[in-house]
Amino acid sequence: MTTTALIVAAGRGERLGGGIPKQFRLLGGKPLVRRAVEALRSHPAIRSVRVVIGAGQLELAAEALAGLEVGQLIEGGAERADSVRAGLATIDDDAVLVHDAARPFCPSHVIDRLLAPLEFFDGAAPVLPVGDTIARASDRLEDAIDRSGVVRVQTPQAFRLEALREAYNQWTGEAPTDETTVARAAGMSIAAVQGDSALEKITTEDDFARAEEWLSSRMTPRTGIGFDVHAFEGDGPIMMGGVEIPHSRGLAGHSDADVALHAITDALLGAAGLGDIGEHFPPSDAQWKGASSDRFLAHAASLIGDLGGVIDHVDCTIVCEEPKVGPHRLAMRDRVAAILQVQREQVSIKATTTEGLGFTGRREGIAAQAVANIRLEKIR
Ligand code: CTP
Ligand code: MG
Repeated sequence: MTTTALIVAAGRGERLGGGIPKQFRLLGGKPLVRRAVEALRSHPAIRSVRVVIGAGQLELAAEALAGLEVGQLIEGGAERADSVRAGLATIDDDAVLVHDAARPFCPSHVIDRLLAPLEFFDGAAPVLPVGDTIARASDRLEDAIDRSGVVRVQTPQAFRLEALREAYNQWTGEAPTDETTVARAAGMSIAAVQGDSALEKITTEDDFARAEEWLSSRMTPRTGIGFDVHAFEGDGPIMMGGVEIPHSRGLAGHSDADVALHAITDALLGAAGLGDIGEHFPPSDAQWKGASSDRFLAHAASLIGDLGGVIDHVDCTIVCEEPKVGPHRLAMRDRVAAILQVQREQVSIKATTTEGLGFTGRREGIAAQAVANIRLEKIR
């Protein structure tokens, strides 16, 4: 059975107070929709992930999903159901998992629970019991509704694709808020599997704040350190902090010899416990000869992203008598921030001399030292 995950992210997030639609807002430094995509695509049974976005949201979506394999973005419609229909029309698999971008955390065991029943059922949905009393109310409370046997239905929801498409073709009701409503109306059999509190939908500003708290309770700060040296050799210019700097002398190295980017890359790899730059990009490998070091740094950042981690801050000190770093500091911060997809304020570049002492003092080369602070999910 092949399965595609369809994530609907075409809403406007009006209950969250307008502004940038909630699916593109940052939660723990990462857009909600990106979290939803990463959570689903990391499950081995999911062959591909497709995302439905609203008209005019292409730029926001492209930025939020940069570097993720989601194929062509699909344009949704006015109601959630219109967006689902648009998505269903583009996929071609045995099964589909329909999911809200507004639910950024999806534990993989929930996906296991959803896919298993598809052998016997037309669909499956995660449900949770209702803890509170349920009643009708306007400005005054009406009678309570018997809550026994009542559940809250979450997404993702799994379906045999053809059956769900057919159910949508038959649907004549108002805009449904999920697919089980449509599927049940068409008589499809839907298994109720255990849901998860991690799947709560983010609807209001309160939900957002709670999700931030929940996330930070699961993350732990990690720090990494990096150090690098390159000797002067030949003629300039040199690359430093991802910026070309005019200088009479060049730097020797297998790649472009960018000491600052190498130190920052190593600091990030160190923080994530992922070895060092030489392990990922061996100098013995000809493909890295003359390589632009932004690739090394971007790779370290994407590995941290794959772990669900967040880069909080990097700080780098460049040690040399010359060239002067000051005039290029801002350009370096901006370049590093762009590579890491963080803000300039999260990148610090400093410089010092060694007062004429040692190899840097003798102007034989340049050294750089960096510290990176990241957050990773706690090891349980
Ligand atoms: N959605 C969609 N297309 C729409 C409306 C909603 O793809 N026309 C998506 C949303 O982006 C969200 C999910 O459906 O991921 C659940 O909808 P909801 O929580 O209602 O999100 P919004 O419609 O964006 O929020 P609001 O109703 O507060 O405006
Ligand atoms: Mg809505």
